[in-house]
Amino acid sequence: MLSIKISLPLWKIGLRNGLGAWAWPLVLRNLLVVVLVGWAGANAQAEVPLESLQVLHWWNSTSEHSAIDVLAVSLAEENVAWQEQLIPSGSGVGAIIVLKSRVLAGDAPDVAQLNGPLIGEWADLGLLLDLDKVAESGKWDKLLLPKIATWIRPRGHVVVAPLGIHRVNTLFYNRKIFAQYGLQPPQTWDEFERVAAKLHQLGIPALAQSSEAWQVATLFETLVLAEGGPNYFRDLFVKKEPSAYSDPRFGRALKRLRNLKQWMTTPNQELTWNEVTRQFADGAAAMMVMGDWAKGEMNAWGMATDSSFGCVATPGTADYHLFDIDTLAMFATKNSHRSAQLKLAQVTMSPAVQASYNQIKGSIPVLRNPDLSKMDSCARLSWNVFSRGSSAQVPSFAHRMATDETSRDAIIGEVYRYFMDDQITIQDTQRRLVSVARILTKIGMENNAQDTHR
Ligand code: BGC
Repeated sequence: MLSIKISLPLWKIGLRNGLGAWAWPLVLRNLLVVVLVGWAGANAQAEVPLESLQVLHWWNSTSEHSAIDVLAVSLAEENVAWQEQLIPSGSGVGAIIVLKSRVLAGDAPDVAQLNGPLIGEWADLGLLLDLDKVAESGKWDKLLLPKIATWIRPRGHVVVAPLGIHRVNTLFYNRKIFAQYGLQPPQTWDEFERVAAKLHQLGIPALAQSSEAWQVATLFETLVLAEGGPNYFRDLFVKKEPSAYSDPRFGRALKRLRNLKQWMTTPNQELTWNEVTRQFADGAAAMMVMGDWAKGEMNAWGMATDSSFGCVATPGTADYHLFDIDTLAMFATKNSHRSAQLKLAQVTMSPAVQASYNQIKGSIPVLRNPDLSKMDSCARLSWNVFSRGSSAQVPSFAHRMATDETSRDAIIGEVYRYFMDDQITIQDTQRRLVSVARILTKIGMENNAQDTHR
């Protein structure tokens, strides 16, 4: 059998030669191809069988590439090459569309970044590889936080490998600006308004923000959580109760969203999340609401947490963790790739991988007893709140944790239209969303797909 031994020093040589760490999975793959071509036909000494896995994902920023490196290097140690199938798109908007069409065309990748209820839906269709045995032999049940142990087992079987937990309700603030003008990070939205007005007098925009629909939705869901708390949040986004959309709390969150536009840098400009993070990092705005992947990115740019910037919960949400769990699903389509897929699942749960990957990515490990010494203040805050359990944990709507893809897109569509067009009234938006929710819950009931344990 044609084979090759992949040795770690190879990576180290490459890094010394100045290649970006993110480039290495590709370099290694290409190198292997060259070696294999050279060896084809020759009577090579077989040491270890070569396998590779196509992994479809949407991670394209500096920190995201480095986090993937951690996985790819550990996978290479298991003699499996990570083959990139990158569909760059913040929050996976484009990647999920590509993934769906590939699955429908019978051309599923070996592995995909797949988050939220879609996991259960695809497991029901028999598309995902059962990881029960890996989980059992690795004692995942004992190692995982209870929420994650349930999350990865939507219908009683483990069907995804967990990577990390992001906190979406994160408010970043520029420590230099805040210290210079004696400001405190706001704990309520009323305090935010006061800080924003003061910053405005000083000629500093308060909030870095893009008009990408998912980024508007990310900000909006934190407003809803502050306004109505977790139960109301679930009524809206998990149960999609039509009456919740006509509730005055929803109207107040919409009003707040529109009012915030006056404090934003670029409310009508579609910037990627890393471009917005760059604006904030450059001091073009004093604050930013973004999941803590932005922390990973700023760290990758050389900005240390707590020296350049700090993070707190978004106003009014300190007791809650609006979570976004990243997971990898293995498609059960190619038998020949099974052992490599199982190796990747194992790799994701190695304590060393969990610590390094999450430190770079900005998220926290999925483990019950992670290495707290590896966490900065943002991660520790996130960890403290998430580990309080279900009373603190709220599934992010914008990041696919709360509901199915169709409902998410339909609701975000209405909120986005309202945000972009100041002529659209709060009442109209509420009316339209009541109708949308009626249709969605009807579809959900007919398909028996209402799954409200989240
Ligand atoms: C994902 C993160 C990713 C972020 C930006 C979120 O939905 O869970 O892993 O870094 O989107 O694309």
